[in-house]
Amino acid sequence: MSIVENAKQAVQGAAQAVMKKAVELAPQSWLPGGRPDPLIHHKHGLIGAPVSRIDGPLKVQGAARFAAEFPMEDMVYAAIAFSTVAKGRIATLHARDAEATPGVVLVMTHENAPRMQPMPPFMTAEKAAGGDNLPVMQDDRIHWNGQPIAVVLAETQEQAEHAASLIRATYEEEASTTDFAEACAQGTEPGQFMGPLQLEIGDAEAALKAAAATVDAIYTTPRHNHNPIEPHAATVLWQGNELMVHDASQAVAHTAWSLGHVFGISEDEVHVTSPYVGGGFGSKTLWQHQVLGAAAAKLSGRPVRIALSREGVYRMVGGRTLTKQRLAIGASRDGRFEAIIHTGTVATTRHNRLPEPFILPTRSAYAANTFKLDVEVAYMDMLANTFMRAPGESVGTFALECAVDELAHALGMDPIELRIRNEPEKDPTEGKPFSARHVVQAWKAGAERFGWETRKAEPGLVRDGEWLVGMGCATATYPYYRMSGGAARITLTKDGHATVEIAAHEMGMGTATVQTQVTAERLGLPLEQVTFAYADSRQPGVVLAGGSQQTAAIGASVIAAQHALVRELLKLAGNDSPLAGLKPDDVGGFDGGLAKLDDPARHETYASILTRAQRDTLVVEASAPPPLETQHWSMHSHGAMFCEARVNEVTGEVRVSRFLGSFDCGRILNAKTAASQFRGGIIMGLGLALMEETQFDERNGRIMNPSLAEYYVPVLLDVPEIDVIWTDIPDPHAPMGARGIGEIGITGTGAAVANAIYNATGKRIRDLPITLDKLM
Ligand code: MOS
Repeated sequence: MSIVENAKQAVQGAAQAVMKKAVELAPQSWLPGGRPDPLIHHKHGLIGAPVSRIDGPLKVQGAARFAAEFPMEDMVYAAIAFSTVAKGRIATLHARDAEATPGVVLVMTHENAPRMQPMPPFMTAEKAAGGDNLPVMQDDRIHWNGQPIAVVLAETQEQAEHAASLIRATYEEEASTTDFAEACAQGTEPGQFMGPLQLEIGDAEAALKAAAATVDAIYTTPRHNHNPIEPHAATVLWQGNELMVHDASQAVAHTAWSLGHVFGISEDEVHVTSPYVGGGFGSKTLWQHQVLGAAAAKLSGRPVRIALSREGVYRMVGGRTLTKQRLAIGASRDGRFEAIIHTGTVATTRHNRLPEPFILPTRSAYAANTFKLDVEVAYMDMLANTFMRAPGESVGTFALECAVDELAHALGMDPIELRIRNEPEKDPTEGKPFSARHVVQAWKAGAERFGWETRKAEPGLVRDGEWLVGMGCATATYPYYRMSGGAARITLTKDGHATVEIAAHEMGMGTATVQTQVTAERLGLPLEQVTFAYADSRQPGVVLAGGSQQTAAIGASVIAAQHALVRELLKLAGNDSPLAGLKPDDVGGFDGGLAKLDDPARHETYASILTRAQRDTLVVEASAPPPLETQHWSMHSHGAMFCEARVNEVTGEVRVSRFLGSFDCGRILNAKTAASQFRGGIIMGLGLALMEETQFDERNGRIMNPSLAEYYVPVLLDVPEIDVIWTDIPDPHAPMGARGIGEIGITGTGAAVANAIYNATGKRIRDLPITLDKLM
């Protein structure tokens, strides 16, 4: 690095540090979220209402079109052949048999694929969406077992798949690292995830040694693969230099920009839509299949549908990596935490350095005098990792919350009492005030509803025939995020209809429904008078449906757009309006128009304003302010998770018989879709606790169970009735008072199950999933 660059970086670094301090010290009123969203106190019944999904009827009629369901004239179907070695070169690639089978249009390999740039991997640029930064079919090199080596295009899916099965390759194999212990022995490096994953406050090891009571254990969690109901797919069309992609995406704007980068065209020349998505959970970003589909469409001159098989998802779409975590807590006799140590190692690749950041929940869950946190990464030759529902918190809370339970047992203290005793006044590692934190209330409400007082503290005492019955609990926690890039456009027509456009996503969470509610309430319109248009890269906004942040990002964008709308409407309203002379801040949306906030009698409808101004439509667009609120406040959601588990003494089988999640996530915007989000997260957490495990063959890096027949996820009979309740206390610093709820359900659940199993049997299983062999 040159001296000039060094100096530039130093100046930038100093400027950032000054900025960070300024934001921390800034008066609340200067910050986004500094003045509570008026909607928090403005109820006419839509916020929180259990409105049924507006896309529900289309989905049950089969009329909602998913990525692999867009018909196109002259379309061909793609199938993929995968490498069977982890590292090396393709020595021979035999495609002739495939090319000769009926219906085959072409076979694309590294020898004839169009020239492309690698994908910009996630978090390396604002709109980078790539799963890895490897060349996509540009050379003969193999980087993981399962890498695509050929794409077959044929007139039908069946013809394409049959032909792909006839592709034969031989390899010049090279030494690879596919064994985790070996990877660790080769040396680890400090992991990064939105900043360093290392933190030390005081001398935690010394404090642990000196503590009156301690727990110090190793917890391990396996690899997890993504299994959304809808496997990844794209329908791709080139029109001249313009690329159209009907994708299954949680990042349409990012994907358009990234594909533009790959093909050397501008992002405006790429059009990505994704109106319906059958689950994403972090996996539906840009992976090689969209690139290969677009490349093959270019090569063939025909539209291409590339729909991954379930096996294809396992071979090409990354998942959650394994973790080996040390969790140690030292406490005084009365249970106050003197030291929290959370360290360990995860596996990652050099082509996308995403670690599983398991320390994230530990940074703010409990007060302690000393902390030592560290995620180290070990490099392996394998498919890149990616985000998977609550990356970090899902498995980090397993270790943390099991350890708290173990400590409670050692202290002879109720585990809820121990948690409440260590409730922090302010963020324990950052020192910032909490925006809102009512986890104690969630604990108390949950304990009462679950009947916690009937639990026997001593394990193994409750029996029902062959079944041992136990109760366990754990804290759930997930941060509030709001990423920059939010923007929205509102088009108001003179019949008082508003269309809100934003490049956001509906993956089953309820976004389309909830945002229609929120927008209707903000504008003072009935639901039928609002259209929420989303999931098109040509709409405003760079809005990731990830990090549970989409609700906040949309909320802040719509607030900004509504402000712009109000300013324009007041200008149009002029002096003949009951609103004459009012300032934008004095006015809100009520009864189909605007009214003075503290004097709703001063009101004029949108229709009246536009008609008088002789305008058919009014269009405004605005961007959300940068997310400074997260730098000023420590913003986190919490939950208190309660599990009743039954363990068969003869067979070791585990049945979760009851589960309750008691949440503190700010204002709940739709009681029906929120309950589903919470339950869905908890169900995924039950899978994490008891079933999910990618079988990765450490000899050759091959995933051995790439199907739902061999990779278990909870099905209906595995899932008990799941009860969910919430505090519904608005966060004064979040749009609508709401913090995101997409991921918190999976956090804490693994530990609650493990702790219930311990309470039932006296067996402490620190290795997920808790299968029956570990209990026999
Ligand atoms: Mo989520 S793992 O941020 O889609």
